[in-house]
Parts: sequence; structure tokens; C-alpha cells
Amino acid sequence: MEDNKIISVSPNTQWIGALDPDLKTFDVIMETEYGTTYNSYYINSSKKTIVDTVKINFWDVFYSKLSKLCNPSEIEYIVVNHTEPDHSGSIVKMLEIAPDATIAGSATAIKFLNDIIGYDFKSKILKDEDILDLGNLKLKIVGAPNLHWPDSIYAYLEEDKILFTCDSFGSHYCHPAMYDNQVGNFDDAFKYYYDVILKPFHKFMLNAIEKIKTLEINAICPGHGPLLTTHWKKYVDLSEKYSIEADRILKKNRVFIPYVSAYGYTAELAEKIAEGIHLAGDIETLICNIEEMPLSKIDEYLASSSAFLIGSPTLNQNTLLQIYQLFALINPVRDRTKLAGTFGSFGWSGESAKIVQSVLKNLKLDVFENTLCIKFKPHQKDFSDYINFGKAFGEKFIKKIKNNS
Ligand code: FEO
Repeated sequence: MEDNKIISVSPNTQWIGALDPDLKTFDVIMETEYGTTYNSYYINSSKKTIVDTVKINFWDVFYSKLSKLCNPSEIEYIVVNHTEPDHSGSIVKMLEIAPDATIAGSATAIKFLNDIIGYDFKSKILKDEDILDLGNLKLKIVGAPNLHWPDSIYAYLEEDKILFTCDSFGSHYCHPAMYDNQVGNFDDAFKYYYDVILKPFHKFMLNAIEKIKTLEINAICPGHGPLLTTHWKKYVDLSEKYSIEADRILKKNRVFIPYVSAYGYTAELAEKIAEGIHLAGDIETLICNIEEMPLSKIDEYLASSSAFLIGSPTLNQNTLLQIYQLFALINPVRDRTKLAGTFGSFGWSGESAKIVQSVLKNLKLDVFENTLCIKFKPHQKDFSDYINFGKAFGEKFIKKIKNNS
């Protein structure tokens, strides 16, 4: 795919980003079946300005485009909406060429860049509602933290009514035409990007959308994917809809009981524990054997539950692969302080409970200190113990719900 096009977004704004059509995964975690783009923008103000850069592997393409528009050594401002290296990677190269350029971003962004760049540079800290004076043009800053890093801001070019949002309203979708009305339908890529990158931060997304409602907008320029020059409102509305849905998914009285079970013993425990949980009050339990459950389903149940009780046997002095996959789905931003505990059957020594509890603690959950670990097989004579364990968990959960309401 040829990549030498500079694309005009507004009288004073040009897209000088890079196409990466062959990317197969992003940030290790995301499949990118449509590739992606790294969007950077040149603002032709009297103080020459760049908004975000590109991943360092694409420096040559970026530099060649920038050189066609100005003498890169004359860049005065590099505005950083977010410091993840797919956007900030080329700053270090830019500073070699324009060492007097000022990097402007949130206080957190400047702090992160100090660590990323490793030497002193000129910087300007931008806060919500600040105006960055570009000489003949002005950039108004919209504080938009945690979308999806604590460093994130939006920048609004007042004269052209262009909003730069980096990852917000972006998508991993590569098409050389770039304009949203010329690239075909990319709604599935937009939704997938929202789900993976922004959904855990849906409350912050709603705050940011509320703030930009007061702006008159001609186009939204995100950090990835098509330039939202025609349908920007549709993608803001979709983001708002997805965020409201994500906010509503959490059921405050739901306990998710994911388990794996080699011989059905841990499964049997799960049923008895759930019986006990129901004795504690109006609690919904969701008991699931996750051995073959799609990760997206497990993630959905984690997101929608206010407590987890993880059932794992001990196998070769360890827990199981499916439980480690579940750990990877727990999001401390989304799931922080949810009540969580563990149970399971073991044959020799029962290490699983300790392993699971220590991970839950590290992931910032509110760990239920008691564990239920039984040797080999559940027996009827002990059923009341299993039920009582569930009841104690349920009672703590009910107390937590009351304290939070
Ligand atoms: Fe596209 Fe969070 O970087």
C-alpha cells in the first residue's frame, strides 16, 4: 500500500500519519485484521505545530511528509495527547531535528515522556481549558484523563473547529483514502477498538463526551483509523451508547463462580457454595465451567459481576492454565475492590488456593480471607461446611453492597 499521501483535514490541518496495513496484532493483545494507521497532524500556524507523532518504525514516512510541508527544524510545538509509544515513539527523533521544540501535554504526559525520552527537553504543561497560543491560531485543551491512560487530553483547534482526540474515537482500520466517507464501513473495527481499549474506562468516556458537547466541531481527528470528517457525530454517539451500556452491565448483586474441574469435584463444591450464598440474601450466582468458555464471555461475566469466587483444583502444585487466562481478564481499573475468593479440591498439597489468593490481592481485589480447600472428593457429611463457606462469603458480599449504597 503506497504511503506518501498528505491529507488535508481543514485549511490549517494536514494528516501526516503512517499506514500499517499488515499489522496483525496491536499491543500484543488486539487482533488487527484491518491493520491500523498512526495518525499525526501538522498545524500550519505561525508557530509550527505537530499533534502527536507516529510509531518509531514509521519515522521515515512521517518525516518525509512533514518535510514537504515545512522545514522540520522549525517545529515549535509538539502537542502530545497521549504518550503511548505508537504516538510518542518518534518524538525522540523530532527532538534531534528540532531540539528547541516545546513538548506540550498533561503533567502526567510530561512525566511519562521524561522516562521515555531519558533527557531534558523543553515542555509546557497543559490543563483542562488551557489555551495553547500557536501565534495566529489557538488550541484549546480538553482534559480527558484515563482515555485510556492517565495522561490523555484532547486538543481543539478553535479557528478550524477540529478536535484531536488520540485513541478516543479511533479504530484499527487502515484504508489509504483515510476520510471516513471514503473508506467503506468500519463500524465493526470501531466497536472492537472501543471494547478492548476504551470500555474499561467508560465512565471517563462519558465525562469527556459531556465536555465536547459544548464545542462546535467540523471534524474529529483520532490517533488511529479514519479521519472523522463527515460522520464524527455518529462515532461520538456510538461511543456514548457503548459507554452507557457498559455502565449498566454491572449487576450489583451478582457473584460470578468460574471454575475448572478435572473430575467434577470442584464443580460439585461450586454448587454447594452457591447454595450457601443464596442463604445470605438476594444474590444472583452465575456458575460456569470455564474450561472451554470463550474468553470474551468470561470477560463479559467478570465485567457484569460485583464479586467472584474462583474454583480451581491443584494440579502438579499449581493452578490451571484456564485460571491464569482468567487472571489476565481481570482489570484492576474496572474490577478494583470487588469481593473475590477461591475454593477447590486437591489430592496432594493444595497450592492452588494460595496462588489464586495472592494474584487476586495483587490485582487490587477485596480478597475473602477464608478459602475452601478439600482433599479429593466432596462428601455428604461435609456439605454443611461447603454451604457455610458460601453463606459467609454471601454475608460479606451483602454487607459490602449495603455499605456501597
Ligand atoms: Fe494508540 Fe494508547 O495508544
